[in-house]
Amino acid sequence: MLPYLVHITPGNLTLLVEPGETVLMAALRQGFNFPYNCQNAVCGTCMGRVLRGEVSYDNQAEEELSSEEKEEGFAFFCSAKPKTHLVIEMFHVEGPDIKLEKTSAYHVMGHTILSPNTLLLELYPENEKEALSFHAGQYLYLCYGDEYRAYSIANAEEDSQRIELHIRHTDDNAFANQMIALAEQKKILYLEGPHGHCVLHQTPALPTILLAAGTGFAQMKALIEEQLKTRQTTPLYLYWGARKREDLYAHELALEWAQQYPFIHYQAMLSAPEPGTWSGELGYIYEKVVKDHPDLSGYQVYASGPPDMVLAALQLFEQHALNRNRMYSDMLFDP
Ligand code: FES
Repeated sequence: MLPYLVHITPGNLTLLVEPGETVLMAALRQGFNFPYNCQNAVCGTCMGRVLRGEVSYDNQAEEELSSEEKEEGFAFFCSAKPKTHLVIEMFHVEGPDIKLEKTSAYHVMGHTILSPNTLLLELYPENEKEALSFHAGQYLYLCYGDEYRAYSIANAEEDSQRIELHIRHTDDNAFANQMIALAEQKKILYLEGPHGHCVLHQTPALPTILLAAGTGFAQMKALIEEQLKTRQTTPLYLYWGARKREDLYAHELALEWAQQYPFIHYQAMLSAPEPGTWSGELGYIYEKVVKDHPDLSGYQVYASGPPDMVLAALQLFEQHALNRNRMYSDMLFDP
């Protein structure tokens, strides 16, 4: 049986609870800081409310609740076991390893033109102690002058504290040209973050679809690097869609992953290639996902790209039994 998803308000945290497990047991197992004391439905420290869904008890906890408390949805989470996915209200819960948001100065130390329209920037903190700490899959704001732009961090956290960003670039893109000039002079700009909830969920170990359009690849690259760091071999299916061949700016890297790691699968698709530039598949990448995986009930999906693509994908995937709670996209969490 699949675990239950327990969404905790007001902290906006999500917990996975295995069948037969109490909410508290799952929270402690996953490194949450969750208020409790007696663990036997006596002290009331773990009391909160079930706003949506149902729980059951194996002990006397239910008898300890007054009829008013039951009516208002109160529960002892040290003893309550989810019977369905839940939304609960529980104050003073902290998620594991929260990365604090802050603004830090970074040197632009290098740049690479990945393709005629994509620029890679490499940034290192001016002061190592002030470096941003982040989870793979998060994004940040790049601040320079009046510019304040959101970018996915395109790498997993590294000891060197390097941050890699993929920036859409064309000859007349003044911002990208400005970034190239900064890189050439090793100048400083500011990064603010991290933000976002699209981090890799490896418990339970579900096969994972990584769906990217254009520079949405950056977020997927970070997630893949994170999984490679943890040495987990849960299947990863990377689907990368773009208009033209040059938009698949790291196609060779993705092919290399698929060749080197048996658990990584890669499929690219173009919607409007220049004649003679592409012999691969044509069409919309999310349609290819359901062609390859018609039953998505046991999967999780990460999606990064234009909002229209993410919403169309979500709609289609739900028709193929994807649990909406297992689709992660900055666009859905932070619209
Ligand atoms: S921990 Fe005391 S009642 Fe739950």
